[in-house]
Amino acid sequence: MNDSSTSGELAAGLRELLVRLAPGDRLPSSRELIQQYRVGPATVARAIALLAAEGSVVTRPGSGTYVARRAGTEKGAVDTAWQTVALTDRAVDTHLIAEPRLPPPAGTITMDGGYIHRSLQPTRGLGAALARAARRPDAWDRATANGLPALRAVFARIAGGGVTPDDVLVTAGGQSALSIAFRAIAGPGSPVLVESPSYPGALAAARAAGLRPVPVPLDTDGVRPDLLAEALAMTGARLLYCQPTFHNPTGTVLAPERRRQVLDVARASGAFVIEDDFARHLGHGGPVPRPLVADDGDGTVVHVTSLTKPVAPSLRIGALIARGPVMERMRAVRMVDDFFIARPLQEAALELLSSPSWDRHVRALGADLRQRCAWLTAALSLELPAATVTSAPAGGLHLWLRLPPGVDDTALTAAARQRGVAVSAGSRYFATEPPAAHLRLGFAATAGHAELEEGARRLGAALREVEAGR
Ligand SMILES: Cc1ncc(COP(=O)(O)O)c(C=O)c1O
Repeated sequence: MNDSSTSGELAAGLRELLVRLAPGDRLPSSRELIQQYRVGPATVARAIALLAAEGSVVTRPGSGTYVARRAGTEKGAVDTAWQTVALTDRAVDTHLIAEPRLPPPAGTITMDGGYIHRSLQPTRGLGAALARAARRPDAWDRATANGLPALRAVFARIAGGGVTPDDVLVTAGGQSALSIAFRAIAGPGSPVLVESPSYPGALAAARAAGLRPVPVPLDTDGVRPDLLAEALAMTGARLLYCQPTFHNPTGTVLAPERRRQVLDVARASGAFVIEDDFARHLGHGGPVPRPLVADDGDGTVVHVTSLTKPVAPSLRIGALIARGPVMERMRAVRMVDDFFIARPLQEAALELLSSPSWDRHVRALGADLRQRCAWLTAALSLELPAATVTSAPAGGLHLWLRLPPGVDDTALTAAARQRGVAVSAGSRYFATEPPAAHLRLGFAATAGHAELEEGARRLGAALREVEAGR
């Protein structure tokens, strides 16, 4: 029996005990539980963590673990049953991007994350940048709605081509930028073409804006312009969402000859192209292609960028870049949403991007990502020889793994979690039926080599278990 199932059993036993105790009562000490249930201290710690995460107990360091107050037993408990009647259609569905209700048990290897591990973040530089930003006398003043001019200038320079600071709108990261763009460009009920597979957060944001995602297949060279033209003609869509550079989840890069074709096909149909350039700073050391917006001469491209991926998830600063009336629309949506982005965070981002250590950080991060990608690829070929890494990515944070025929990705994800490794089921990345079963495996959110190898080992065991149970 593995440790997570023992801790699950202990938690179940303790739940029965809780029923007999009153809120505020103290649970037996860890030592008593170890003796009583004949388990190890790690198992007890995991079981208590499970109960604390579900709100059944509260732990007070140095004092003990206590039964939590139960909902409904507190004085003044609120009866919200009427809301079920009042809240009709569900407009916002976050099931594709929501975090699991319970945190993973301690010891779980996280290969489902979309951000870099803390050890890869430029924490010292970021801390210094934030401290400098906070010392400015105007740190807490109102910022202009478009964003700090100097920060917009940096984003314009990174985009290249003829982009100017006036074409830039600072946002609270990439997800917010996507949500703004979808709402500004198309009305409820409109189709939006998406690469298939695509980023679930974009699918969720499009649906929350009332749009209808229509998949367009992707091959190893990115979205297929012939099928894109067909889909535009068939649906009358005025919008394509794509990730030309290090696509999430496949890692694909749009081939050089297709870049112009995609823009021309979109232009011919009078459609906008949202270019999600989330991975600009996540190249593995090789050349990173120019963004589409740098070669856009007529305002077709709405470019999305973000600093959360190469820096840290809570540096929630990103930008939208666009030309023409669409920018006015997006500015209006941003204003209505939140007036402007917190100034200290904008100042900190500016300090960080302008510091001499920024380029060093991006280079070091690229080398680390390349190494981790190679480690995970090697470990997977050893532990899951029947599964296929669809392509060797030259950038980004993930591998896209095609599963052997007949294996259900959701069942495998659940079995893997039981064995202490969190991975993402591929079906979440498709707007309609997936053509085959995949997993997305992140190599950047783990602590390092040993964890990647162990994660692959646990995943291999989970796959064998799922295959044996078929
Ligand atoms: C492709 C892609 N775009 C945008 C985002 C949004 O990231 P953030 O809002 O943290 O900038 C993500 C995050 O996972 C992503 O994978």
